[in-house]
Amino acid sequence: MELNVYKDDQALSAAVADMIIGCIKSKPGALLCFATGDSPKLTYRLFAEKVIKNKIDVSKCFIIGLDEWMGISPDNTGSCHWFLHEYLIRPLNISPSQVHLFDAFTKNEPGECDAMNRLIAAKGGVDLMVAGVGMNGHIGFNEPDTDIHSLAHVALLDETTVTVGRKYFAEKVTIDKGITVGLKQVMAAKKLVIIASGAKKAPVIKKTVEDNVSTQFPATLIQKHTKGFLMIDRAAASELKTEFKWHTN
Ligand code: F6R
Repeated sequence: MELNVYKDDQALSAAVADMIIGCIKSKPGALLCFATGDSPKLTYRLFAEKVIKNKIDVSKCFIIGLDEWMGISPDNTGSCHWFLHEYLIRPLNISPSQVHLFDAFTKNEPGECDAMNRLIAAKGGVDLMVAGVGMNGHIGFNEPDTDIHSLAHVALLDETTVTVGRKYFAEKVTIDKGITVGLKQVMAAKKLVIIASGAKKAPVIKKTVEDNVSTQFPATLIQKHTKGFLMIDRAAASELKTEFKWHTN
């Protein structure tokens, strides 16, 4: 794992946007797996701006969503579906044939998971995964104590995820289950980027970096990823004892 600290969210997001562009340039047909939420929002905005400004060809890459809230409509502004459309798919005019997102209303959960598993396998694995980290250490909806060998699955969300998750929704909704790419696929990603910014993530980052690797706090697994990049800002790094690579730009 490489730990990179930037002065603020703007600088770290620009760096991650450049990593996504680098991935697409070196492999135009790359499989990109994207989380939603506050952490990658600016990254996607800057990525879209850079792609348009520099006329980068994104017509061959393939995008999958890391996760989704079960039972939440794709039109709901709190859904992962809506987020990816708003910040990436629509601004970049990405064709529906280049995107696969979980169906939150599936009547066939095993089939829905299987379709994602088969797609990832058929494309030879995820080339670049951009994820955030939850207050309980989750990656995607891989909650504490998820099996390290898990593929895509439906997860019962833990109390922290449900409580924190309310921030995405304008109205009262029931969010008790999520569907997610599994930990095995997260760890098999050829490059794994986890983004965190702001002081509220400081204790989470301290655990991620300094605790023993354990599925009790899934984000610690990034310590073992040889191409894992923990991209954080100064505020999120504020509780670290660990040495890190400090970027001043
Ligand atoms: C969302 C996702 C979640 C979030 C995590 C952090 O697609 O995969 O695991 O990345 O809950 O959320 P934020 O970035 O809003 O703090």
